[in-house]
Amino acid sequence: MTTITSFFFFLLGLSSIFPVSFSTNILSLGKKNSDRLLSSVVFPLKGNVYPLGYYSVSINIGKGDEAFEFDIDSGSDLTWVQCDAPCTDCTKPREQLYKPNNNALNCFEPLCISLHPITNHHCKSADDQCQYEIEYADHGSSLGVLVNDHVPLKLTNGSLATPRIAFGCGYEHKYSVPDSPPPTAGVLGLGNGEVSFISQLSNMGVVRNVVGHCLSEEGGFLFFGDELVPSSGVTWTSMSHESIGGYYSSGPAEVYFGGKATGIKDLTLVFDSGSSYTYFNSQAYNSILALVRNNLRGKPLEDAPEDKSLPVCWKGPRPFKSLHDVKKYFNPLALRFTKTKKAQIQLAPEAYLIITKYGNVCFGILNGTEVGLGNLNIIGDISLKDKMVIYDNERRQIGWFPTNCNKFKKEGQSLCQPEGLFSILTENYQGYIRKIF
Ligand SMILES: *[C@@H]1O[C@H](CO)[C@@H](O)[C@H](O)[C@H]1NC(C)=O
Ligand SMILES: *[C@@H]1O[C@H](CO)[C@@H](O)[C@H](O)[C@H]1NC(C)=O
Repeated sequence: MTTITSFFFFLLGLSSIFPVSFSTNILSLGKKNSDRLLSSVVFPLKGNVYPLGYYSVSINIGKGDEAFEFDIDSGSDLTWVQCDAPCTDCTKPREQLYKPNNNALNCFEPLCISLHPITNHHCKSADDQCQYEIEYADHGSSLGVLVNDHVPLKLTNGSLATPRIAFGCGYEHKYSVPDSPPPTAGVLGLGNGEVSFISQLSNMGVVRNVVGHCLSEEGGFLFFGDELVPSSGVTWTSMSHESIGGYYSSGPAEVYFGGKATGIKDLTLVFDSGSSYTYFNSQAYNSILALVRNNLRGKPLEDAPEDKSLPVCWKGPRPFKSLHDVKKYFNPLALRFTKTKKAQIQLAPEAYLIITKYGNVCFGILNGTEVGLGNLNIIGDISLKDKMVIYDNERRQIGWFPTNCNKFKKEGQSLCQPEGLFSILTENYQGYIRKIF
């Protein structure tokens, strides 16, 4: 879910107005880039690429410690949750909606101003609430009011932080596929714009301005702060300008297929955990699909247009049970970042194929031009999984390395119990680093 944000101004009936100052509370303001050792926050993730198509995290908000499920999206900044206000197209039962408590941000607050293009920021009176509207590349959208509330966070050093974080209380939603609303209560924006979760946490001195994820077929984990980032073994490439206050992008990149250059180059790539699949612009897409098809000549796979799971599918003599059965028929792809020596992302067949419930294999790279992405190329969950991906906003770099993102489970702990995860991190921290990396 990459965003192309635009904002409008409406008035709404979300209770009245209140002076709220944006304060950091318990945690003192830390200096950015100081040498002070900061802690990190780690959350377990749920989800998969197929059939679910998203990864989500459960985060508590407010004094009542109510948990909300958020779709994690490195392609956008704003975090929002469905709001218990007169609500259009909120899909959750009332008791699972966020209840605002006179905590809307004022229209003149810096965070509200940061959300709006200068020309579009019209505060009519000093009492106006901060309205937002966010629109995603898939044409989904959320409209609401920016509020702030305590978000209790267990830090890896054992402390509990309860920073006050600003996020959207969304009361009007549109979904990209109208009849299949997303099952999550909202979106967690992992971008690096001022309003994003990580920007706010790092401005308050809770963690360094580093965020990352490790996605697997069974979930994985998400982290804020730099403690999980190993000091060696990570491939880094620099973020490009587009990465400021928006999505994380890098490039230019060149595509290799089966170890050979394809002539497809100068691709700008956006790392988007909010997108289930990978998208290339029409030209690159056509070439890559042609290479994959050519390579299938003489192999026991035929087109399976009857399988509508994705635009391009193939069937074998018998239904496939797993990617293990088919990966020998496909070559690995690689994306080489031409400006950074030796920086490449390996895309094994598992990083661009799925096996559908019909036992066919489908191509998980899609035609971005067809869905209106223009020249943007998106690396989605299918290609991000089984890697730790790090967005280091302090050094303005994106890094990755292949790893088993289910390792927490192997420690005999369930990923669904933050407590379990937390104790591994605090009690066994050094050991954990060694074992995983
Ligand atoms: C843990 O780290 C936070 C900052 O990230 C700091 O404020 C807190 O004092 C630390 N707690 C301990 C026990 O060191
Ligand atoms: C990709 O989409 C563009 C725009 O809709 C279309 O012209 C092109 O033929 C598509 N490519 C393939 C291989 O379908």
